[in-house]
Amino acid sequence: MYTNTTNANPRSVVTVPALRQRKADGAKIAMLTCYDASFAAHFDAAGVDAVLVGDSLGMVIQGQASTLPVTLDHMVYHCAAVSRGLHAPLLIADMPFMSYRDVSTALVSAGRLLAEAGAAMVKVEGAGWVLDVIAALSARDVPVCAHLGLTPQSVHKLGGYRVQGRLEGDAKRLLEDAHAVAGAGAELLVLECVPAELATRITGELAIPTIGIGAGAGCNGQVLVLYDMLGITPGHRPRFSKDFLCGRDSIDAALAAYVGAVQDSSFPGPEHSY
Ligand code: KIV
Repeated sequence: MYTNTTNANPRSVVTVPALRQRKADGAKIAMLTCYDASFAAHFDAAGVDAVLVGDSLGMVIQGQASTLPVTLDHMVYHCAAVSRGLHAPLLIADMPFMSYRDVSTALVSAGRLLAEAGAAMVKVEGAGWVLDVIAALSARDVPVCAHLGLTPQSVHKLGGYRVQGRLEGDAKRLLEDAHAVAGAGAELLVLECVPAELATRITGELAIPTIGIGAGAGCNGQVLVLYDMLGITPGHRPRFSKDFLCGRDSIDAALAAYVGAVQDSSFPGPEHSY
């Protein structure tokens, strides 16, 4: 860890090794998505550890039906904006659909997200053929966050946005995939919509930190889509999310409440888990 002396904000910059240390110390990691500089500027004071510029921006910013239409240019644009507003939290950028379809495309895409857009880590969905991509990025010192369970870029193959790993065979495959992505060099693992018991087991078996979204309180940290946790996403809010602005009078208070609830493990409760 180092402190950015050009910024008056005294919070230490959160690094990849710092996240690993959090796991070793048993301290929870609070992560949120973000898509612009103004929201990003609120995250320091709230104590957010990591910020994901998610391809969920396709749905919550662009009004698309899925994350599939999001392009690398969209991700670079939003990630660069977030990076201008952010100081301490680790900045993670989603690699959008087809931007890592093979190793050489993945290297170019990740290069843009780190060099042009200021990301410190990139996130890719899945295992299988994605393992080669993770290994190639990691071998070139590009930190990688893996994403397993409900992987929204695979929505058509999965047949919808559903909890994954409920059947015994699926749970076994997910556990194997988790070991495989860590073995390929991933530094962080997002588990989305996975039964809490399975996520807790994966968390216990892996050396890298796990971040849950609909995966129970046993993960090393939690992530939510910012617009869901502020209650501004129109329509149905997923069971695993919670409106932290409800009953509070500012966005800062909502962010601080979320970080506090992740840190003291009061969020997610059983009502947000599967
Ligand atoms: O795109 C996104 O926001 C994500 C999170 C839901 C983990 O991938």
